[in-house]
Amino acid sequence: MIQIAVLGYGTVGSGVVKVMESNHDSIREKAGVDLGVKYVLDLRDFPGDPIQEKIVHDFEVILQDPEVRIVVETMGGLEPAFTFTKKALEAGKSVCTSNKELVARHGTELIQTAREHGASYMFEASCGGGIPIIRPLRTCLCADVIDEITGILNGTTNYILTKMIEEGREFSDVLKEAQQKGYAERNPEADVEGHDACRKIAILSSLAYGKRVDFTDIYTEGITGITPADIQYAKAMGKTIKLLAFSRKEGESVTAMVSPYLVDKEDPLASVNGVFNAIFVHGNMLGDAMFYGQGAGKEATASAVAADVIEEAQVLGRSVMSSWDPQKLALTDVSGTAKRFFVRARGEEAEFSRAQAVFGVAEMVRAGLPGEYGFVTEKMTEEAFQEKAGEFGAVISRLRLREKEALGD
Ligand code: HSE
Repeated sequence: MIQIAVLGYGTVGSGVVKVMESNHDSIREKAGVDLGVKYVLDLRDFPGDPIQEKIVHDFEVILQDPEVRIVVETMGGLEPAFTFTKKALEAGKSVCTSNKELVARHGTELIQTAREHGASYMFEASCGGGIPIIRPLRTCLCADVIDEITGILNGTTNYILTKMIEEGREFSDVLKEAQQKGYAERNPEADVEGHDACRKIAILSSLAYGKRVDFTDIYTEGITGITPADIQYAKAMGKTIKLLAFSRKEGESVTAMVSPYLVDKEDPLASVNGVFNAIFVHGNMLGDAMFYGQGAGKEATASAVAADVIEEAQVLGRSVMSSWDPQKLALTDVSGTAKRFFVRARGEEAEFSRAQAVFGVAEMVRAGLPGEYGFVTEKMTEEAFQEKAGEFGAVISRLRLREKEALGD
């Protein structure tokens, strides 16, 4: 029997215990390994719960127990998760995690530590919750040169946008409801400002392009500025609004960005609604593929973590994991990337000719809102748009248009 220890008995940690116990026999039959949870590290006690007999409060108990070969880190946050992970790997124990913050910040170092100690560091659940994407990038898609990843990688913001679009409600109102239902954190900043999606696209891009992508280099905008008026215009254009995290490689240049985009209703990403996530991948041989499913949630995320536990058990003593070169990949400055922009402008429709003069060929969009009109610019760089918007002077807001071939150009 291979013993594991789970760090943190929160939503995901308790889910992992549930998966390992509920599916114990089928895992043993399918994977050929017998796995048991020996310890659960948590600050709390759980009197009356059968888990209590496995609860320990001191990480050293786990670290010093040679029977524990695999550690599941589901604590979240940077510390003490980083210190515990590092010590476990240095002791030759393999670690798997759902902690995207830790993988994005310290993944390079932890992968290296694992390699130096004949252990593995796996993080399937760090991106897209239960959706298989990290392992497919390492195995099924390893013959391809990946040149684009575009994802709806955050369930909270996708839920909020879906509700705003379906029900015409304000951002703050839907956020409050999402918090009441437990879909959004009490402190929703990481989700609604796009930081969570940014960390996930940094991890996926590091894997896809083989070098470390620093998440702090990725231009990131969240959804706090999206209003019901933007949605009215989106509907008038037959489009929807999605928070997209994307990266694209052309030659040696890689562009990455997180931003709300206007997406055509026919685009497969447009029909990804509610808390669901999807990841579109383009490979030079594969063409297009899309991975879709539960991007968060106890059982779905735990299922991905448990799959890592099983693979680590099957390769004990060897370092088998998704990895990237520690050398940093320099991202292209997004100000030089071109796309079309949708603009809400102050004024009357009669003033559209001035918009045409400033922004070039533009198409008017009518949503019937008083004292304003909308238009779509021709394709131009971010930098050129900023300049023209300054010259025009009547921009209320702007949104980028997703045009598959234009992403990151
Ligand atoms: N807060 C994250 C989300 C949880 O909403 O997608 C899963 O990583």
